[in-house]
Amino acid sequence: MNILVTGGAGYIGSHTSVALLEAGHTVIVADNLCNSKAETLDKVKQITKKEITFYQIDVTDKVSVDSVFSNHHIDGVIHFAGLKAVGESVDNPLAYYYNNIVSTMVLAKACQKYGVRRFVFSSSATVYGDNTVPFAENMNLLPTTNPYGETKAMSERILTDIVKANPTFSVSLLRYFNPVGAHESGLIGEVPIGIPNNLMPYVTQVAKGKLEKLRVFGDDYPTVDGTGVRDYIHVLDLAEGHVAALDNLTEGVHIYNLGTGQGTSVIELVKAFEEANGIKISYEIIDRRPGDIASCYADASKAKQELGWVAKRDVISMCRDSWRFEKNNKE
Ligand code: NAD
Ligand code: WQD
Repeated sequence: MNILVTGGAGYIGSHTSVALLEAGHTVIVADNLCNSKAETLDKVKQITKKEITFYQIDVTDKVSVDSVFSNHHIDGVIHFAGLKAVGESVDNPLAYYYNNIVSTMVLAKACQKYGVRRFVFSSSATVYGDNTVPFAENMNLLPTTNPYGETKAMSERILTDIVKANPTFSVSLLRYFNPVGAHESGLIGEVPIGIPNNLMPYVTQVAKGKLEKLRVFGDDYPTVDGTGVRDYIHVLDLAEGHVAALDNLTEGVHIYNLGTGQGTSVIELVKAFEEANGIKISYEIIDRRPGDIASCYADASKAKQELGWVAKRDVISMCRDSWRFEKNNKE
């Protein structure tokens, strides 16, 4: 199939482009490079030895989006393009609501105009809010603590309503848990701008000596050791989950958790990193981070049953692959 991958130069989009190309699909990337570089797509070509068509466009711009749909026979869209920094979304909500919601609407509209029926959307486990773990797809969603999370909940609702009115439209809403890791080549991975907000890139930068020590946000949660528990998922497993979702897409709205189903605490992740890479990570415990919840992990059974997809890579591989990319990354 010819797949339009928005945000394909980004972290998850680039790994998914590799998986799509390896599965025999043709990839057309639309990305404005606001949080990525075009060279990443060269690395994707180097890994797969396949070509990619790239449009440097903003997917909130309907004229640009229309030109992509008119230039290609698109069979499906995977919509990754979005802003994703939780704290930034609190400071600049309008940028987040505009970018993340308008992009979804512009793309859905182009799909209607050009008769494209398959749409896969990057959602997030954040839409569950502070529910009881494990999070299952049929749970009522709770408010998130930030505009970023709300853009995901709203985009899910918009796409669901579009399907209600157009039952032949096929939508897969993929709720990612905590993506980490990198391609085993060390060529592509996550490149945060500035000081990382997320745990794994922070840990790899401590390992590299770019940051002095990890600050662990609270050790008084009701968890195994008091630190926050998350469901870390290797980005290559996540990428394969998209191929499975696309291949199994049928009419209607389908919601899937993409997680491992296993929770790992902050301290357990630090220990796994040390074991995987033989590097000591200094840390100190500080106060909780506002907005954090104690535990977040998936009930991953629906994706297994309906898509035949399960996450295969363990936390040790996630730590090894994240570190390999950080070492190779010259910045
Ligand atoms: P990323 O920032 O690496 O990739 C997003 C890409 O979208 C970037 O290349 C950026 O340049 C592009 N982009 C942003 N706005 C655009 C626009 N208007 N037009 C064109 N391109 C645009 O982020 P990622 O981690 O790869 O995340 C991909 C998607 O998955 C996002 O929608 C994100 O919200 C979602 N998600 C990510 C995580 C995570 O922890 N990384 C978790 C859950 C959901
Ligand atoms: C993981 C754990 C922290 C950094 C966020 C977004 C979510 C999704 C994924 C979106 C928590 C602890 C972290 C640090 C720490 N993003 N931590 N010290 O908060 O689960 O999810 O990223 O696209 O929407 O909210 O991920 O990696 O920030 O935190 O102790 O320096 O590590 O408290 O328990 P989170 P994270």
